[in-house]
Amino acid sequence: MNIYVDSMLTDEARRAELYRGSIFVLPPSSSALKLCQLAREMIKDAFCPVDPMKLHQQMPAKRCAEILAELKPRFIHHALSKRYIQGMLAEAGCDLSQTYFDVPRIRTAFPGDYLKSGIAYAFHPHRDTWYSAPFCQINWWIPIYEVSTENCMAIHPHYFDRPIKNGSRDYNYHKWNLESRQKAAQHVKSDARIQPKPEEPVKLDPEVRLVCSVGAAYLFSAANLHSTVPNTSGVPRYSIDFRTVHVADVLNRAGAPNVDSECTGTTMSDFIRGADFSHLPAEAIALYQDGTEQLYVKA
Ligand SMILES: [Fe+2]
Repeated sequence: MNIYVDSMLTDEARRAELYRGSIFVLPPSSSALKLCQLAREMIKDAFCPVDPMKLHQQMPAKRCAEILAELKPRFIHHALSKRYIQGMLAEAGCDLSQTYFDVPRIRTAFPGDYLKSGIAYAFHPHRDTWYSAPFCQINWWIPIYEVSTENCMAIHPHYFDRPIKNGSRDYNYHKWNLESRQKAAQHVKSDARIQPKPEEPVKLDPEVRLVCSVGAAYLFSAANLHSTVPNTSGVPRYSIDFRTVHVADVLNRAGAPNVDSECTGTTMSDFIRGADFSHLPAEAIALYQDGTEQLYVKA
């Protein structure tokens, strides 16, 4: 695996490297710092007067989950969060007329056993491509507060081109969305939905734990196996992630190789253009549809 730090490669060359399993670490950019600042203010306000770094010591987990359930969608739909992503993509050398992104999400990882499921799900080793993500998807990961090797995310590079027996055959993105909405309507707090997981022992080592500064970002292919590191740092971790695709790669069906994903459906309809937030052309989305998008529609 190659790790590029502060690389001068063009976006096209960078994508080609990402599709080979490489990681890119980008220095903090002005828009990324604004995005982190927005997230920090929203987190601070949501938990006030409790210090966001002491939630696990000072707030019942149930109350924390309730606040996160309100905070996380509010960040996703905040008008400024999309604007800052737009700025961040431009500052990273992406062509805004060709690059599409999905909404940025705040993720949390708490120390010990505090809030491990549902709204603060600690992700087991997975590839996003087990969750109906396209093989040209690039993941962007940004720490909101300082992170350490004890509360960051890990990539398991030796599985990039090595298949793992996994449960993706039972995953359909459209079904998942429909069930999510139904569960939300029932006010179910814990997450009982089935997620695609490895179905054989996974050797997590060697793993790459990338620690970058606030507002810096690292990029990796949706096909890279990654997981939430068990948080042994004593402080919560807050991060932002979002995904991008380039329309030329979508149309050409370029991207990382598929070694073991068998899920159905596609997340392609979620991506919006950097320039004007419009969706991908219908013919581009159609290339990835398999008919299941018609099966799981809201009654
Ligand atoms: Fe993921």
